[in-house]
Amino acid sequence: MTTIIDGNEIADSIQTDVRASVETLTDAGVRPGLATVLMSEDGASETYVSMKQRACEELGIEGSHHEISPDASADALFDRIDELNADPSVHGILVQMPVPDHVEKRAVLERIDPVKDVDGFHPENVGRLVAGNARYKPCTPHGVQKILAAEGIETSGKDAVVVGRSDIVGKPMANLLIQYGEGGNATATVCHSRTEDLAEKTRQADLLVAAAGVPEMIDGDMIKEGATVVDVGINRVDADNEKGYELVGDVEFESAKERAGAITPVPGGVGPLTIAMLMYNTVEAASLQSD
Ligand code: GUN
Repeated sequence: MTTIIDGNEIADSIQTDVRASVETLTDAGVRPGLATVLMSEDGASETYVSMKQRACEELGIEGSHHEISPDASADALFDRIDELNADPSVHGILVQMPVPDHVEKRAVLERIDPVKDVDGFHPENVGRLVAGNARYKPCTPHGVQKILAAEGIETSGKDAVVVGRSDIVGKPMANLLIQYGEGGNATATVCHSRTEDLAEKTRQADLLVAAAGVPEMIDGDMIKEGATVVDVGINRVDADNEKGYELVGDVEFESAKERAGAITPVPGGVGPLTIAMLMYNTVEAASLQSD
């Protein structure tokens, strides 16, 4: 029988712990604060940011949301980041990606105070992660590790294949999988758009993490019997319904679940964990900054 992993249930249990830590910190006079910044009118980005703010409310974290017009200058965004860096009530800063083309992404990431960089995208934090001394683990790959731990899925000695080489998921996921300790010690292969014979690689995977952002690109034929399949994709595809779209993953769920030993659905798989780990990192940030 294939296990369909319930990401909401795992995220709820993490959020229960986070809520308790928020209370402890707040009682000690440090209420964790998270600022989200959006410089986009993309519907999906707006939805993600509002979900992050809602999670703050539910957990007692002080959320603040900042919108910068996508037509504004890069300096308008940098000035706002500078203000948030200087604000002691803000412990975490998240600039929702992508930013418009006229704003250099790297400059944005480097502008955020690394101690407030709860995404873990600042080069200092990326360097620390690669060195095995992470300050904040990036939320989505960290969430994938939490899923594996909650389901009792061993990574040590296993062949893991990550499909996608993004800075947000693919690269940090592979890095975490090869590190020493729980959720690591795997043999990780990273595949991407130039990989020749992708299916030959994915069929070797005991653990397959799909994070390419291509709707349903992995089907059952590409999966080893009994493998754990973690689908990080959240793709909007046109649909004949009220919203005009539906969400599908990078994995074709129906055929994949016939082969997988365990699989995350979309929605309700990795997505809730990304938000839970952001809340977790915000509490870490508040705690670091209160020392
Ligand atoms: N865009 C898509 N995923 C993410 C994320 O985890 N953090 C930020 N800041 N932007 C994103």
